[in-house]
Amino acid sequence: MSIKSYTQKDWQKGYQSQTNEFDYWIDEIEGTIPAELNGTLFRNGPGLLDINGQIIAHPFDGDGLICAIKFEQGKAHFQNKFVKTEGYLQEQKAGKILYRGVFGTSKPGGFLANIFDLKFKNIANTNVIYWGGKLLALWEAAEPHRLNPDTLETMGLDYLDGILQPGDGFSAHPWIDSSCIFDHGNPCLVNFAIKPGLSTTIVTYEISPEGKLLRKREHSVPGFAFIHDFAITPNYCIFFQNPVSYNPFPFLFGFKGAGQCIKYQPDQLTRVILIPRNPDDTEVKILETQSGFIFHHANAFERNGQVYVDSVCYENLPEVKENTSFLETNFDELPPGQLWRFSLDLSQETVSSQIIESRCCEFPVVHPDKVGRDYRYLYLAAAHNSSGNAPLQAILKLDLQTNTSKLQSFANRGFVSEPIFVPKPNSLVEDEGWVLTMVYDANYHRSNVVILDSQNLETVATLHLKHHIPYGLHGSWYK
Ligand code: CO
Repeated sequence: MSIKSYTQKDWQKGYQSQTNEFDYWIDEIEGTIPAELNGTLFRNGPGLLDINGQIIAHPFDGDGLICAIKFEQGKAHFQNKFVKTEGYLQEQKAGKILYRGVFGTSKPGGFLANIFDLKFKNIANTNVIYWGGKLLALWEAAEPHRLNPDTLETMGLDYLDGILQPGDGFSAHPWIDSSCIFDHGNPCLVNFAIKPGLSTTIVTYEISPEGKLLRKREHSVPGFAFIHDFAITPNYCIFFQNPVSYNPFPFLFGFKGAGQCIKYQPDQLTRVILIPRNPDDTEVKILETQSGFIFHHANAFERNGQVYVDSVCYENLPEVKENTSFLETNFDELPPGQLWRFSLDLSQETVSSQIIESRCCEFPVVHPDKVGRDYRYLYLAAAHNSSGNAPLQAILKLDLQTNTSKLQSFANRGFVSEPIFVPKPNSLVEDEGWVLTMVYDANYHRSNVVILDSQNLETVATLHLKHHIPYGLHGSWYK
């Protein structure tokens, strides 16, 4: 057993609500912000872990808090604002929880207060992207919220100029294909939505840089599907339908959150669903494999007629426990996320897999031009120790060609968020640029924005915020 790289108490402190909205130039900086780093890092994640002291049962149920760190000629400006969703405004006004959370937050009052209450709060807390001239806060089960990119003010629900209908979902994991073969090499955004039910409909959307719908496709698969992310190649959208079952009754009757009714079925296989992106190709391919549970895919690509998918896999899906705060999570009891490569042979309809990285890791990211393409470098958030399960305290860089890695750790008192890779302007070298991440520093109960050199992972600059930001989920770079 290796020595613990963190204390539970330090980790917990990073989940305190941040109720304030700030707007200032960052003046406490160690190192130098690269002059060529110009643009905005947008981040999203749960900002409130309680409503007026009433605890949110799971961080996935916390209201979306957007951060914007704007880099301008060696200076950096910080701003954060809550997405002013209808539910956020109602609950802040009432000073209490009014909505049930998907992951188990019940309204106070127990079973009677929750029975048959199927109203969800669109919490807009998972990702934030700029596309089609709009800044959008995303949450997979409902419509995006549009934000003003300069002030972060919420402008309301956005239907993407009619691409979405009221009630439609829009996943928090769009990919940007930098050079789409069906659009003369122009970029396009590829995303999906899940329409749940006894059978599940997967909807794929491809949207131009101007925000126009290029392609849309619907495909139904039998059974319940819990699909948070997908992968793309030039020719396919790839979905892993993890073996889970869903029993809606405890949820309908108010005992549990919907997320608590999902059970991992270890005896069943994962179905790998390949939906062609070519509008003339109507054949959806389905392969089967053993994959464990997957939240996030790192990348996918086609090489010599095979399709490869790299994904962070868990041996099983940890169940959301009842009557236990997520703050009491025992990391040692849970399986770590580990990086696997799946090789899909489409003619033989077989799948083989191999582990690439056994260190506990999450939040993979690649060079934006390598999305869906054969690639060499992958960046992830990772645990400090090379084995076991633990909070994410380090940034890991993998060289998939030489099978070597680099690690920059912020243990014992630092906890990282998703890395974002920013390419150096005009560089053709895949790993030339910077990796940006927010690090919660338990020493000072504040967060830092850290800029790493993406080639050697050495720290280029540490920007000290005047406060903490609770652990976030996803974000993006906009230039
Ligand atoms: Co995600």
